[in-house]
Amino acid sequence: MTSTDHTPRPTVRKAVFPVGGMGTRFLPATKAIPKEMLPIVDKPLIQYAVEEAYAAGIREMIFVTGRHKRAIEDHFDTAFELEHALELAQKEDLLSLVQAIKPDDMQCVYIRQSRPLGLGHAVLCAEPLIGQEPFAVVLADDLMVGSTPILAQMVEAYEQVKASILAVQDVPREHTKRYGIVDVAGKTNQLTEILAMVEKPMPALAPSTLAVAGRYILDSAVFDAIRNQPVGAGGELQLTDGIAALMATQRVYAYRYEGQRYDCGQQAGFLAATVDLALQRADIAPDFMAHLRAVLAR
Ligand code: G1P
Repeated sequence: MTSTDHTPRPTVRKAVFPVGGMGTRFLPATKAIPKEMLPIVDKPLIQYAVEEAYAAGIREMIFVTGRHKRAIEDHFDTAFELEHALELAQKEDLLSLVQAIKPDDMQCVYIRQSRPLGLGHAVLCAEPLIGQEPFAVVLADDLMVGSTPILAQMVEAYEQVKASILAVQDVPREHTKRYGIVDVAGKTNQLTEILAMVEKPMPALAPSTLAVAGRYILDSAVFDAIRNQPVGAGGELQLTDGIAALMATQRVYAYRYEGQRYDCGQQAGFLAATVDLALQRADIAPDFMAHLRAVLAR
């Protein structure tokens, strides 16, 4: 930036994508490929997540990877031979589609999580690359669709409160054991301060039915808070516990996002996303709709 450039610097510049998990729920598909590379229609889950972060003004993407995750690095790298072949074949549309996966002003950084010690541990692995600035955490399993991308909504909310923000949604009480659940005092607005939160409580013990979806904007003080936590639910170092501890010294807000979340970490959610997104595609919808109608008529 030159001294005459007065463009405001975005406050949230970096996003962390924890992609080190083994994806056992999607075996055998995930035996040799990362679950984040599974496509919804024809785009991998991780690409939807990165595009959402990019649309929120974020340009530095930090992937916390593990073994067998090279395909993610390859996906966001230049594919010289492929591009050359598409150029020779004059397939300009496909060439621009491939080149757009990583815009020139986007930077991708990879760091390994050597042991699967939990989401909190994965986020902690990114600390040396974040330093002391606010950052986003994006869980690619949760595919989020909104007319304004969900993370962009959250960055805007962040600009108002300058404090950590978690995306939340109402879930049926019997599902509380799948999520981090927040405790807010009484009625909630779109942005509401959180009093406490707990990871995957049994329905009877859940403080509310307001669940954390896989989008966070966090103050960097969360690193110390995570580090000082004991191992939590499932024998893992939980991000939820770190954020709960952060509340002792800072405000943390729940943000009711506008849009739809698909839990692509489960087969039913993955299929729901596939159907909905296929029906939004002009090139696919007519044939696919005809098939769905035929299925329903059986
Ligand atoms: C993680 C978080 C949980 C959050 C969920 C959203 O759980 O630990 O708090 O509600 O993502 O998808 P996981 O789905 O990785 O078990």
